[in-house]
Amino acid sequence: MAEFAYDAGVIPGRAMAEKAANWRAIRNICLGLAAGIAAGVALDFALGPSGAWPAAAAAVLLALTGWFAESRRADRLPAQPPAAEVASVANLSPIVREVFEALPDPLMLLDGSGRALFANAAMRAIVGMEFERKPVSTLLRMPAVLSAIEQTARTGAASSVEFAVRVPVERHYQAYVAHTNAPPHWITLLLHDMTAVKRAEQARADFVANASHELRTPLAAVAGFIDTLRGHARDDPAAREKFLEIMGLEAGRMRRLIDDLLSLNRIELNEHVPPSGRTDLAGVARDAAAALAPLAQAERIHVAVDAPPSLPDVTGERDELIQVLQNLIHNAIKYGKPGGHVWVKLGAAASRQGPEVFAAVKDDGEGIPRDAVPRLTERFYRVDVKRSREKGGTGLGLAIVKHIVNRHRGRLQIESEPGAGSTFTVFLPAAAVPSQPPAAVTEVL
Ligand SMILES: Nc1ncnc2c1ncn2[C@@H]1O[C@H](COP(=O)(O)OP(=O)(O)O)[C@@H](O)[C@H]1O
Ligand SMILES: [Mg+2]
Repeated sequence: MAEFAYDAGVIPGRAMAEKAANWRAIRNICLGLAAGIAAGVALDFALGPSGAWPAAAAAVLLALTGWFAESRRADRLPAQPPAAEVASVANLSPIVREVFEALPDPLMLLDGSGRALFANAAMRAIVGMEFERKPVSTLLRMPAVLSAIEQTARTGAASSVEFAVRVPVERHYQAYVAHTNAPPHWITLLLHDMTAVKRAEQARADFVANASHELRTPLAAVAGFIDTLRGHARDDPAAREKFLEIMGLEAGRMRRLIDDLLSLNRIELNEHVPPSGRTDLAGVARDAAAALAPLAQAERIHVAVDAPPSLPDVTGERDELIQVLQNLIHNAIKYGKPGGHVWVKLGAAASRQGPEVFAAVKDDGEGIPRDAVPRLTERFYRVDVKRSREKGGTGLGLAIVKHIVNRHRGRLQIESEPGAGSTFTVFLPAAAVPSQPPAAVTEVL
């Protein structure tokens, strides 16, 4: 940045040109007077004192001609406003200014020497209110952006650069710098927030790493037992039975993980397509609870489904909603209190969007620590990884629930009190009541 001059006034204005013209006029008057005096002295010598008067008159005439020529020249200067005026943001039309102000991305206009002329609201949030006519290097302290501006100012070619700010929270931006070809040769600096894109890229990379890690663990166990069975356990029928059983469990874990990954992928692909079917949520809850009855019995947990008699249908795909209720009831059984209760309660509710139907799954287990609640729907997030694995969990159940609920334009609410239990409630938009055919009218004559 050292060679980048931040001085304004590079564009010669009318004031400067007029000043130069005045100097030239004074010079011409002096030259005219000098020439006249020289001519007067010469004539004095040649003709005597009678020649001095015409010579003095010629000198004054020459001087006046020089001054008059210069003043005409100055009048013919192009009507060019002074530099400060050219580079003024007042030249922006109100509509352009309004459009710039409304842009969500930070935008700044700089003059040819790198001084700030305009900053929209988003940019003012970064550089502050006192930006006008300040060198950009004192407003933005990102070397990458400053050298992009310098390069564009020097070459006239547009440039773009990525940079990150670490405080107060990490944010990623792409800076675009462009130069207007026509005078007054302003520089436009636009910052585009790439934080969400970067986070998505990071999440995808983490997801692949996590999925590979989750698959590698059971695979390593299976491979290890195969070696053991080939080796010292070859002739030990009891050990062989035990190892084959563990291998079966690990293989089952891999299968569940692959099933969950495929479900998640399928739901994500369809998330933007709203569901079209009509489903009775109470029936879905009863079926999901029935499918999990053997598991509940094994844990001595009593599962009760409580639904009012006339509940409106919801707009939704039955298979996906079964998966939602199964995942929630399954979690309530897994992380609930052995010998305890799971209550599935259905009801009608209303939101600003319209009538809704809810299904709440409540357990009396150990609950969830407060700071873990917002992270539960992240893929592979588990409060206690070891416990989840022991219970055959994949860490994807609630992520699947979240995506299905999103697709159904519903919402998931999680309430938990550590030590007392948790309640997971799904709210789904109620389906419109089908219009009844008009009742037959029997005319009695
Ligand atoms: N009802 C619940 N009570 C306590 N913790 C729960 C409950 N439901 C979910 N969790 C926590 O949320 C985590 C993520 O759940 P989930 O995505 O279904 O994965 P998984 O059940 O396979 O571990 C679980 O590992 C557990 O720590
Ligand atoms: Mg689960």
